Amino acid sequence: MNHKLEIRDVTKTFETEEGELMALDRFNVGVKPSEFLCIIGPSGCGKSTLLRLIAGLDEPSSGTIILDGKELKGPSPDRGMVFQEYSLFPWRTVLKNVTFGLELRKMGKQERYRIAKECIELVGLKGFENMYPYELSGGMKQRVAIARAIAPEPSILLMDEPFGSVDAQTRNALQEELLEIWQRTKKTILFVTHSVDEAVYLADRVAVMTARPGNLIKCAGIDIPRPRKRTSVEANEFREKLLMWLSLERSKVQD
Ligand SMILES: Nc1ncnc2c1ncn2[C@@H]1O[C@H](COP(=O)(O)OP(=O)(O)O)[C@@H](O)[C@H]1O
Ligand SMILES: [Mg+2]
Repeated sequence: MNHKLEIRDVTKTFETEEGELMALDRFNVGVKPSEFLCIIGPSGCGKSTLLRLIAGLDEPSSGTIILDGKELKGPSPDRGMVFQEYSLFPWRTVLKNVTFGLELRKMGKQERYRIAKECIELVGLKGFENMYPYELSGGMKQRVAIARAIAPEPSILLMDEPFGSVDAQTRNALQEELLEIWQRTKKTILFVTHSVDEAVYLADRVAVMTARPGNLIKCAGIDIPRPRKRTSVEANEFREKLLMWLSLERSKVQD
């Protein structure tokens, strides 16, 4: 089943040594089922905070996050998360990393292994089940992280600059693989990125955030048909628009 996600007037403040820090200020966005939404904005504007709130790893100071008409409370297998830094368990094999989320449920070992193997195959790592993270390249580790996130069958996949640490070629390959997984599984994806190119290649819509406290300046749909060409005229035009919106925000930060 596909879920509708609504972020309504979400504010998040942190207590710090220098006093109260507002990371998000009455943030609003709705995400349609199966939508690929990219979130882009200046560093420190609250993107990771927003994803952590949606994942249920932290709570809003005010406002609500609504999933299928119900206010969201805490983490759930409904939402899977992929972080920028390789967050695999170093002492577990690829297979055991992917079964992790399934172990939290009452599911037999055979069933866990069956599902994990399917997910490993989906990210193109068949044959690597028994390897350890230190034996894998950066791109392979992120494939494992994606397999681990989708194994419990979340309807929403939250990705926080997941391809930020890999080289450009691997990044392109991972983007293409992710689009294939998205098209096959129809998941809703919220994808934070620093890269305008990445957003234009991946997203149905791009949410552009203001500098901290983070708010939405624009949420723009990308009407370019898929499969997209990275260097098409339309892609370039959209990239220019995004860069312009972002530079307006950067100039505000410097004021
Ligand atoms: N746990 C925390 N305690 C205090 N401040 C935090 C905490 N988490 C994030 N922040 C601050 O909130 C702001 C937004 O952070 P973050 O969401 O990580 O930004 P982004 O991911 O957009 O770069 C930053 O100023 C950051 O220092
Ligand atoms: Mg971040």
